[in-house]
Amino acid sequence: MTAKFYIVGNWKMNQKLEDINSFFNDLGEFSTERQYEAWLAPQAIHLPTLLEKAKPLKIEVGSQNISDNDSGAHTGETSPSSLLDAGGSFTLVGHSERRAIYKETDEFINRKTLLSLEKGLTVIFCCGETLEEREKGMTESVVGHQIEDGLKDIPENLREKIIVAYEPVWAIGTGKTASPEQAEEVHLFIRTKLTELWDGTLAHKIPLLYGGSVKPANVEGLLIQQNIDGALVGGASLKGADFKALCDAADKRSKIPGQLQG
Ligand code: 13P
Repeated sequence: MTAKFYIVGNWKMNQKLEDINSFFNDLGEFSTERQYEAWLAPQAIHLPTLLEKAKPLKIEVGSQNISDNDSGAHTGETSPSSLLDAGGSFTLVGHSERRAIYKETDEFINRKTLLSLEKGLTVIFCCGETLEEREKGMTESVVGHQIEDGLKDIPENLREKIIVAYEPVWAIGTGKTASPEQAEEVHLFIRTKLTELWDGTLAHKIPLLYGGSVKPANVEGLLIQQNIDGALVGGASLKGADFKALCDAADKRSKIPGQLQG
């Protein structure tokens, strides 16, 4: 358990302007006094709209993807410095959809991670196994390698700006959530891996988020686990009322005494 809980909405390639308006109308009363973090990652084109609407509510806004270069001739890419300049504060890196559809490799993901951290962004580093890999008993070796290779050579002073999101591919958009126990088992493995790679004090400060069919009905069972510090949510983050319900669960969880670290 780290110092704070996180609810991060990954809107993927969804939401038109009218959906965004409805989202904020449906959020209802959204307190800015809170112990947990609420963040949103819209499509890049909606960053300015989101910044205008979300910042007053103290919702951080970030990108779903980022370039491994900071400027120049890279048509269609988003630079880390430009994202910061526009008001964004974080980026997802290595989402399974980017790994699978756009063939992003661990080495490429590592370059994006390093550059984003160097420029001052927080990185939500995503990892997770496919169903086939899980069925073959390869979950830990797959996730372990993704972490070792993707988080290679991160200078010590930048490591605290990393959040790891475990998103089993078989649970994304399928309605099939990992059980809280299944998720906790991998989160504990990730925490142990980070302890081996870096050190225990730091590893206990890195928030570990779970993603994959998280919704208001199952979020509490996940957040109660010792090594689950929040959720990275796709489908259930698109509607304001659902996002609010997820945030309410994080709020409730934040108020349960525990051994908060960091
Ligand atoms: P769903 O919550 O729609 O399963 O998506 C999870 C995800 O990929 C978040 O990044």
